[in-house]
Amino acid sequence: MTASEYKKVAVITGGSRGIGKAVAEALVAQGIRVVIGDILDDDGHQTAQELNHQCAGDTQMAAYIHTDVTLYKDVIALFRFAEATFGGVDIAFLNAGIISGADNVFLPLEDEVEVNLPKVNVTGVVKCTKVAVLHMAKRGGGVIVNTASVAGFLSGMQLAHYYATKHAVVGWTRSMKMLKDICNVRVNAVCPHWVATDMQGMILNKEGDDPYKQLVEQSPRVKMETVVRGVMMLIEDEKRNAETLLTLPGDVIRVQEPIAEYEELSTSEYAALVDGYQPRVLDHYKKQLEQALDRYGFLDVYRKQQSVEPSAFSYSTKELEDDHRRLATTKIKGMMVLVICSFTTTAASPATRCASSQSMHAILRHDLNFG
Ligand SMILES: NC(=O)c1ccc[n+]([C@@H]2O[C@H](COP(=O)([O-])OP(=O)(O)OC[C@H]3O[C@@H](n4cnc5c(N)ncnc54)[C@H](O)[C@@H]3O)[C@@H](O)[C@H]2O)c1
Repeated sequence: MTASEYKKVAVITGGSRGIGKAVAEALVAQGIRVVIGDILDDDGHQTAQELNHQCAGDTQMAAYIHTDVTLYKDVIALFRFAEATFGGVDIAFLNAGIISGADNVFLPLEDEVEVNLPKVNVTGVVKCTKVAVLHMAKRGGGVIVNTASVAGFLSGMQLAHYYATKHAVVGWTRSMKMLKDICNVRVNAVCPHWVATDMQGMILNKEGDDPYKQLVEQSPRVKMETVVRGVMMLIEDEKRNAETLLTLPGDVIRVQEPIAEYEELSTSEYAALVDGYQPRVLDHYKKQLEQALDRYGFLDVYRKQQSVEPSAFSYSTKELEDDHRRLATTKIKGMMVLVICSFTTTAASPATRCASSQSMHAILRHDLNFG
């Protein structure tokens, strides 16, 4: 693979180890460059080094930067660092998460007890999404995958607060559906069952005879390969948007559909109300996006990108070169079309006209994307 063939760029939070690291390895194996943001600096640097060694040649494929996802200054620095290092951001895997403090119903009534879990698992995802969207909108689009969990659909006393945070990630993910129409950004979530990572240590290494420890010890695990495959499906499949994808033991991957619409709300009056609201809300958010891009210093580039290629997803140097080559070929063939046109409209026989018009249609179909 040559340097110009390395295409997209991914930001991964919580990628120093565990699921984030496994996904980073899979992305790099596909030629996608990766920037990891985490608070575990030694592990993070080590992971970036391993990823760089994973590929032949001396092209840099990975970088690490200290990032606490609960702080805007860190999150902004992460995405700006990715852009400065690799030229932009096309993919964000928002995966950083914690489980400690989840079994807190009977803990002391102190304000700090409940702070950290939602701050990392929910606010971290929200903050990273908001920054990622600006970088992706500027680039013409992108895809975000959040790490939720089966805990986003289940419930249980032992990890009640963790369950609540993952329900929130599911809600946030599904609520982002309209981003696709606003700025060509898709948002999905992977929802794994238990995976053997350090996170489980928080439960398995607990002192005492917590009955939940035994349950977790003996619970079936989902293979890391299954989780990685689920994430890759969400990244690669352009049709997947606002989707929550379960990854389960037995190598099972399936969509968890949202609950059905409430019958009580399915009236024609309400449907008409929603129909009238949809086009207006899109305009409303497109304006808000421009204001946000302006505050972030990206508006000019965004507008330029919109006027050049409104629906472009992302362009590497190689893709740009290919486009220029295609454009040049198209111009030549366009001239051929004109020649054929003038020929067919003048002295040619009906049979020649028919053959000429067929080749003209073929050129239009293949090179100008008509029909
Ligand atoms: N392991 C499982 O069984 C399992 C199941 C379902 C979902 N998940 C979710 O998967 C994600 C990854 O977890 P994992 O299993 O790989 O565990 P892990 O502990 O190995 O990885 C979590 C990573 O997030 C990082 N992190 C924590 N707080 C952070 C912060 N404030 N800023 C930046 N990074 C931070 C950690 O340093 C770590 O590298 C989490 O969101 C977790 O909730 C895990």
